[in-house]
Amino acid sequence: MTVETTGTFAGIAASEEQFQLATYKKMAVAAERGDGVWIYTSDGEKYLDLYGGHAVAGTGHCHPHVVKALREQSEKLLFYSNLVYSETRAKAAERLVSVAPSSLTKAFFCNSGTEANENAMRMARMYTSRENVVTFTGGFHGRTADAISATFLGKYREIGKPNVPGHLAAEFGNIESVRAVADNTVAAIMLEPIQSMAGVRTAPPSFFRQLREHCDQHGIVLIFDEVQTGVGRTGDWFFAGSEAAAGVVPDIVSLAKALGSGVPVGACLVTDAVASKIRENDLGTTFGGGMLAMACVSATLEAIDNDGMLENVRTVESHLRERLKEVEQIVGIHGRGFLLGLEFADNAAPVHKALLDRKIITGTSSDARVLRLLPPLCLKIEEVDLFVDALQVAMAEL
Ligand SMILES: Cc1ncc(COP(=O)(O)O)c(C=O)c1O
Repeated sequence: MTVETTGTFAGIAASEEQFQLATYKKMAVAAERGDGVWIYTSDGEKYLDLYGGHAVAGTGHCHPHVVKALREQSEKLLFYSNLVYSETRAKAAERLVSVAPSSLTKAFFCNSGTEANENAMRMARMYTSRENVVTFTGGFHGRTADAISATFLGKYREIGKPNVPGHLAAEFGNIESVRAVADNTVAAIMLEPIQSMAGVRTAPPSFFRQLREHCDQHGIVLIFDEVQTGVGRTGDWFFAGSEAAAGVVPDIVSLAKALGSGVPVGACLVTDAVASKIRENDLGTTFGGGMLAMACVSATLEAIDNDGMLENVRTVESHLRERLKEVEQIVGIHGRGFLLGLEFADNAAPVHKALLDRKIITGTSSDARVLRLLPPLCLKIEEVDLFVDALQVAMAEL
């Protein structure tokens, strides 16, 4: 059976709307091809992608090293489960652990961010023999039952009813509110170290130090949900262990999004102590650690390293911050590296649209005044200039 879309935007959109459940608010763009920070549409248009396909295109769209690894692996073996060993999997796990803070010594592979968080919370419960989990208002952790119950942002917990019991909320950045709820019945404190969806909210390094101390005092497992902040996005390999975290390393880091450059993959990185409590068959998923995904994990980490992307993030971020000073309607710039929230005095939705009209893709957030930038880590200074110039023109016309 063939389905006619006519290859035009209108035809593709009509077909997708007819046959796909309408659960996403879409931009009027039909992506056909990608190259670095650029997306090419079926109508022959070219868009600067400062949203990175929702923070997934860390190495940029179709990075040649990743595409080569994917092609080569696909000709050898698409998949075999964890019931056999694989050199491709062994290499990916070794590479991932080698770029992580040294106390995170073992990886568990799964398929998505929500699944990584579910497994992180499960491991914390196994490790502590406790059930409760503390997360933060404004945090987002995914849409499966336990992860959505841990998501105290907007209407998510409501969508996820009935919620998994034992989820408690504290206020991000406020250690007193953590102390008030996180007692000796709590298995884990889990947080997005930068709350992305909430509008790119940050906490001072001292907060992470206080969290670590509190967890150590009460035998609580500290989990960083680095689904967005991990794999180079902040200019460090991970937020864990970075200056912004006051050097604090959690007991578990969860990852997904940019880890496979677009091929679905999630992971948990854990300490020896946590690993020591996990037994055969305690965790598992058919597709976790599959060869295609593993080849992409290795190639992604190599591409970031080979191309000096971490340094690029830091250099280009400073240039971007400097240039954004020219835009007087921006009242605040939040975040770190290439996870930035531009706060406008008013609703940012018209700015998002005006930029899209100028062929620049940005992200919105649950704070209507904040526009999010999550570009590929290879974004260059020239492309930043193109963006800021377009933003200035757009602001003048709005
Ligand atoms: C911080 C964070 N955690 C978890 C998730 C869930 O990841 P996934 O959509 O891969 O399940 C997301 C997705 O946006 C996220 O931003």
